[in-house]
Amino acid sequence: MTLAELDALHERSAGEVAAAADAAALEQVRVRYLGRNGLIPAIVKQMKDVPPAERPEFGKRVQAWRTALETALAEQQQAFAAAAPVDTPAFDHTLPGRWQSLGKMHPVSRVIEETAAIFARLGFTVADGPDIETRFNNFTALNTPAHHPSMDASDTFWLTDDLLLRTQTSPVQIRMMTQHRPPVRIITPGRTYRRDTTDATHSANFHQVEGLYVDTKPVSLADLKSTLAHFAKAMMGPDAGVRFRPHFFPFTEPSVEVDFSCHVCGGKGCRVCKMSGWIEIAGAGIVDPRVYEHVNRARGDDAYDPSKVNGFAFGFGVERVAMIKYGIPDIRWLYESDIRFLSQLA
Ligand code: DAH
Repeated sequence: MTLAELDALHERSAGEVAAAADAAALEQVRVRYLGRNGLIPAIVKQMKDVPPAERPEFGKRVQAWRTALETALAEQQQAFAAAAPVDTPAFDHTLPGRWQSLGKMHPVSRVIEETAAIFARLGFTVADGPDIETRFNNFTALNTPAHHPSMDASDTFWLTDDLLLRTQTSPVQIRMMTQHRPPVRIITPGRTYRRDTTDATHSANFHQVEGLYVDTKPVSLADLKSTLAHFAKAMMGPDAGVRFRPHFFPFTEPSVEVDFSCHVCGGKGCRVCKMSGWIEIAGAGIVDPRVYEHVNRARGDDAYDPSKVNGFAFGFGVERVAMIKYGIPDIRWLYESDIRFLSQLA
């Protein structure tokens, strides 16, 4: 092959690159010249037949051709890629818009948030405690007698001799007083656990909100009542009222059970309040001095001297309030995550 023939081939290949109509045609050109069985490798193989005087020049030109061809192919390839239409799905402008459905807060979370907001206006802050508690915080310091039935393995999820899944949020009272000097004014929402068989009104895992107000200033049962009366109105509506019934809890003396007036019938009597006009909501009372004694012993000081501090405590079930407030007949509905139910409570 002569130099002139080589140049002619170079020119022809450049023309073919320019003439290629699409990427597939371009690829054919590449294979024809640069492929393993292409023209350029074949020419390189036959270099030995070129007269020795011409060989260096011949080699240089083959190399220049190869480089020029590769560059031209790459440029043309890029041009095709840039011009290719972007593959977007057809958009139908006549379709109606799609609604974005917003998430909604779960009724249990809503009652907790509302409770926190109501008590925040009365100066209560939210405190937190762990689900796994000690025997001391959950029972002993709350003045529960050593052999009280609530400590039975049939009632309480014991993890070890000393650790358990808390049966109430009351132990957070102990944690708070152990860590902070009076005054203490907190509510503590959280999960609680009991070995209850699940039915329409019971669950082995539910939520409580505990409240505690302890001060060196006098705190009375009347303060407790007015606080809970305010809570009842803010949570259930302006016509709601409260009544106290005497009761017993180990950690309060006196102790009361707290009823809200039935918000469905306004107190006249209906199915929801079982014709009584009242719905049992909370336990409460004046903190028993024995609780302060346990706290002082745990603290190692006299910050809660029973002759100098006094206060009230209360606790209620969140699911119960949610069920009454929203008219939910079965506690299990609150845990089934059925969107048909939950979305009705927006
Ligand atoms: N912890 C009690 C329960 O689970 C509720 C309770 C009653 C809390 C009286 C209190 C209280 O703080 O003073 O049944």
